[in-house]
Amino acid sequence: MKRITSYFILFAALLFMNRQVASSMINVVPRPNYVKETAGIFAFRQSMQVYSPKHSGAAALLERKLSTAAGIHLLPGSNKHSAIEMVIDTNAVQSPEGYQLNVTPRRILLQAATETGLYYGVQTLLQLLPPQIESRQLVKASWRVPCVLIKDAPAFTYRGIMLDVCRHFLPAERIKKILDVMAMYKMNRFHWHLTDDQGWRIQIKRYPKLTQIGGTRVGDNGKPYSGYYTQDQIRDIVKYAAARHIEVIPEIEMPGHAMAALAAYPQYSNTGGPFKPRTVWGVENNVYNPANDSTYSFLSHILDEVCALFPSKYIHIGGDECPKIRWKESPQCQLLMKKEGLKSTEELQSYFVKRMEKILEKKGKKIIGWDEILEGGIAPSATIMSWRGEQGGIDAANAGHDVIMTPDSVLYLDHYQGSPLCEPAKIGGLTTLQQVYAYHPIPKAISPAMAHHVLGLQGNLWSEYLYTPNLFEYSLFPRALAVAEVGWTQPQNKDVKDFIRRLEDQQIRLDEHHIDYYIPMPEGNLNYMEFADSLRLPFTTNRPVKVVYTINGTIPTVHSTTYKAPILITKITTLKLRSILPQGKMSATRTIHLTKTHPVKGISTLSQSQQGLRMRYTRKGYYVKVDQLKGVRQWKDTIVSQPNEFFTVVPIYKDGKSYPGEPRGAGIFTGYLYISQPGTYRLHCDADELYINGKLMINNTGIIKRSVPTDVTVPFQGGYYPIKMIVLNNILGGVPASWADFRIKIAKWDSSNTSGELLPAPVFVR
Ligand code: ACM
Repeated sequence: MKRITSYFILFAALLFMNRQVASSMINVVPRPNYVKETAGIFAFRQSMQVYSPKHSGAAALLERKLSTAAGIHLLPGSNKHSAIEMVIDTNAVQSPEGYQLNVTPRRILLQAATETGLYYGVQTLLQLLPPQIESRQLVKASWRVPCVLIKDAPAFTYRGIMLDVCRHFLPAERIKKILDVMAMYKMNRFHWHLTDDQGWRIQIKRYPKLTQIGGTRVGDNGKPYSGYYTQDQIRDIVKYAAARHIEVIPEIEMPGHAMAALAAYPQYSNTGGPFKPRTVWGVENNVYNPANDSTYSFLSHILDEVCALFPSKYIHIGGDECPKIRWKESPQCQLLMKKEGLKSTEELQSYFVKRMEKILEKKGKKIIGWDEILEGGIAPSATIMSWRGEQGGIDAANAGHDVIMTPDSVLYLDHYQGSPLCEPAKIGGLTTLQQVYAYHPIPKAISPAMAHHVLGLQGNLWSEYLYTPNLFEYSLFPRALAVAEVGWTQPQNKDVKDFIRRLEDQQIRLDEHHIDYYIPMPEGNLNYMEFADSLRLPFTTNRPVKVVYTINGTIPTVHSTTYKAPILITKITTLKLRSILPQGKMSATRTIHLTKTHPVKGISTLSQSQQGLRMRYTRKGYYVKVDQLKGVRQWKDTIVSQPNEFFTVVPIYKDGKSYPGEPRGAGIFTGYLYISQPGTYRLHCDADELYINGKLMINNTGIIKRSVPTDVTVPFQGGYYPIKMIVLNNILGGVPASWADFRIKIAKWDSSNTSGELLPAPVFVR
């Protein structure tokens, strides 16, 4: 009882101590689990003595940062007389990744049970210094830290980031840049998604065609898109990561997402091919043949080389999104299922995974798989990565399997982090920094006795829409910092307001690393707005940041007018807005085109009309620009009920058998849009061009047909309005036109409620 009481007092004291952190100027991310600030500061001098274990990477990191940015040189000294002492002390600290940092006016003492703990202690110490400590050049700053006692250890052992380098390739030096930043935030797992339908990115010496053929696809511009890592580069990255206490876990996808491999070695598919690496995103139907023994030998030989490159005890074997259609069609698979007593193709996938598990076990490795590997019965020693929500993780943990939480709703960092009207194209979704931060990886449905099976969490960065390395960074940061804090900081010590406060300092550190991170944009309204009299435009940001704007078409600077209240617009205006972070860094510019017009009167009756549109179309030619249609000699003519019918007339992309150039042709649709009630409407259309009354209202030329940011408001008096739509059947950015919905969608516009549902508008033809 007495012990319980004293624990309670200690717990209450810890809570109180932590409350102190929120009001202090300590900016450490992830937030340490125990912080006690004391009076005074420790000032660094030009030359100081440090005592540390021999060959300590942690000491080397501190020396390097201090000498590079601050010109402060640490010299080796004895323990008693050194200003900085770093020691391995398993009495003081027990947690293998934990540390204790005691800063007093005269001395800094860092204790840890392991070199990893010391490394994390140094990262914390660096974050107590001014953010310019991350500079690669000598800078002037006040190199001092507040006196503080920090006792810290992570909440979870697995704190990861996954990078998909298949859909878009990330050069080795850009991976190292991300590893540097992960290490600052005590992240310790890099899951490297190295193979997929659209690209094989790891050199395998026994099978050179994997990279020669599987490493190159036809890009959407018709030119080759290539990239892979040599084994030397991989060894170098694994070593670089290890020096930063990050383990690299490779993923070799099987039995699905294997099109790039099958393009090189089609004999391991069910049909024998031929195939090409997939050129568009989405899920591929051609997968490995699980009924062919040689498939297992092929994969085993690949994994021999993979295992030799990666010291990690885990190999990720994918297992997600494996369509079973080829297996159902295959007499060979049916025979195997009969022989093995497998009742479904899900069980056939389990059979495959269990064989791979045994193969990897012989090589001394354990498997991780996406949650689909639960479906036909889980392999005995598998760790589950739960991505389709948390259910897979819940089921696996309750059954005694280790689990890593990566639910797509909160930890898919390829989702939008702000309004699609202001952001580069993304796969979809919306996952704000605050939503990531609020996540807790142990759902209530996991019984307390099984909670220890949740090893931690991981942010997944899929790269379909990440067309440049900077877009990888933009999607990853700062949300990765929230992932880091969820993984490290005990839930009771998390505080989103304080996290956002600390982020201000961390963003300067990211600047020193030249990371192109997301800055909240001025959100609200549309980018194209026609209005009758005047408009009052309110804007918000999804975190508190300053917004400036201009109304004369110039790009806003830090000196432009600060946004304080809704902006009144009475005439034709180009409004440009930008956000500014406290350190002066500005966001991209948002441009809003505002056009004053007279509400247009439509035709009041349309005789002999029917629902639908006239379609002039061609099946020939590959067009990316509307003016290329001038060269079309022969148009065909028909009537369709709505424009998506174009794709039943003009052959669409067919799974596994296509490449840019195959989707072809174009359609020009004419008819009348019917607006029943007068008013201002929001219009959405994915077509390349939409004209109303002969005026170009929406122009999506060159824009990837996903969440197009070109919606427009238009005041209408009501009636029938002549329209023309042009649709080019192409692939831009890996998105076939056939995936878009070309119907015109409308909603009554209300500036106080801009989320009205867009519904297909009635269209008529005479
Ligand atoms: C996944 O997103 N298919 C794991």
